[in-house]
Amino acid sequence: MRFDILTLFPAMFTGPFTESILKRAQQAGHLEIALHDIRHYARDRHKSADDYPFGGGAGMVMKPEVIYQALADVLGYGEQALADLDTLIPPPPDRPPVIAMSPAGEVFSQRIAEELAQHPRIVLVCGHYEGIDERVRECCIDRELSIGDYVLTGGELAAMVVVDAVARLQPGVLAAASTAEESHSDYLLEYPHYTRPATWRGHTIPDVLVSGHHGNVARWRHEQRLLRTLQRRPDLLSKAPLSARDREYLRQHGWSTSAPGDEQGIR
Ligand SMILES: C[S@@+](CC[C@H](N)C(=O)[O-])C[C@H]1O[C@@H](n2cnc3c(N)ncnc32)[C@H](O)[C@@H]1O
Repeated sequence: MRFDILTLFPAMFTGPFTESILKRAQQAGHLEIALHDIRHYARDRHKSADDYPFGGGAGMVMKPEVIYQALADVLGYGEQALADLDTLIPPPPDRPPVIAMSPAGEVFSQRIAEELAQHPRIVLVCGHYEGIDERVRECCIDRELSIGDYVLTGGELAAMVVVDAVARLQPGVLAAASTAEESHSDYLLEYPHYTRPATWRGHTIPDVLVSGHHGNVARWRHEQRLLRTLQRRPDLLSKAPLSARDREYLRQHGWSTSAPGDEQGIR
């Protein structure tokens, strides 16, 4: 899978994309990340990519033409889009999705990560300052994603979050089993993990994990997922695929449902 990231600060991505799993995924050819410096597309001699907002007010706004030129170049809109500054060339129909990072976007989730992981290529646009000019948003952005209800200084950290969450779902990036029972994979949180030593500073591990009985281990883990979700995120239970046995187990542990979608955690 390929990510094209349009940013004013490409150097910010060094580190997150050059270490650990994402580094190995790129080396192994599972992942390609191309960083495009938006400022490179600025035409004036100061290479300015932002300007004052019409109507006044605080902050600066990213100029539409620099973002448009960057998109036109990266996505191959054609020579006319780059040369003719009076005409808005519609994007080619078969281009990859163009997603802008924005605190006003849809809130990013594991479901959206799974959806994006189906695309062979995605373009991410990182805003800065007060954000991007509305006209380039209207013409050229397919979707806006927020990584949470707070405001960052720029879209770079948000883009890193999206790339990381989507990349690890690509075949070959992680061992297949690693993502199967993870938190949010099926709206249940993950079970607790333990590693050696079996007794650490007087604290032991659950006996079942050294019983060698795979069925019991699997059942214990599943029940731990149910319990954790009940205790920490009962709101997720209405979306989780629960069996009759799961429901009974949850009820025994204090789950009360007065109506579908009205699940309450332990009080
Ligand atoms: C300071 S923010 C702009 C905030 C904007 N003036 C507003 O109030 O909605 C600058 C850029 O950071 C990015 N950003 C900030 N918070 C974000 C979030 N929660 N999720 C995704 N991107 C975010 C966006 O790309 C945004 O254009």
